[in-house]
Amino acid sequence: MKRVTLEIPYYSCALEELSPEDRRLVDAARAATVSSYSPYSHFYVGAAVLLADGNIVAGSNQENVAFPSGTCAERCAMFYANSRYPDVAPVALAVAARGADGTFTPKPVTPCGACRQVLLQVQIRYGRALRILLYGSEQVYVMDNVERILPFQFDSLE
Ligand code: THU
Repeated sequence: MKRVTLEIPYYSCALEELSPEDRRLVDAARAATVSSYSPYSHFYVGAAVLLADGNIVAGSNQENVAFPSGTCAERCAMFYANSRYPDVAPVALAVAARGADGTFTPKPVTPCGACRQVLLQVQIRYGRALRILLYGSEQVYVMDNVERILPFQFDSLE
């Protein structure tokens, strides 16, 4: 048996270092935190999807007293984008979150496992890399595609 190491390249930067287009997407995710419905967790998450035609679709986490019935911001935004513009490929997704004190998290917020699987399928469906931008007030992570946050992905029944 041999030990194998996996390397995951990604970028870490300040908000100000992003391109104007990436900055616009992150700002949309930050703004979307305002529509979060999070009476249970008080964790206000916003996500914004950039479509290949330049449009941005945003969403937020929506919680429910029957816990599994709620949804994360990433899936809310992405499913809305896919429903509204099924023929336009999503090319980037940004996520931001504010805690109970109302301030943005210092560290980047990272998608849950279920959202990663959904984002992976978007890449496969549209045949385009989906860039991921994870916002934190102290640093922003940028990933070139979904594989970066979902290694060893399940992507086929064959
Ligand atoms: N949440 C998201 O919307 N996205 C994430 O990336 C992490 C978690 C939501 C789910 C739940 O409403 C709350 O944040 C606390 O987990």
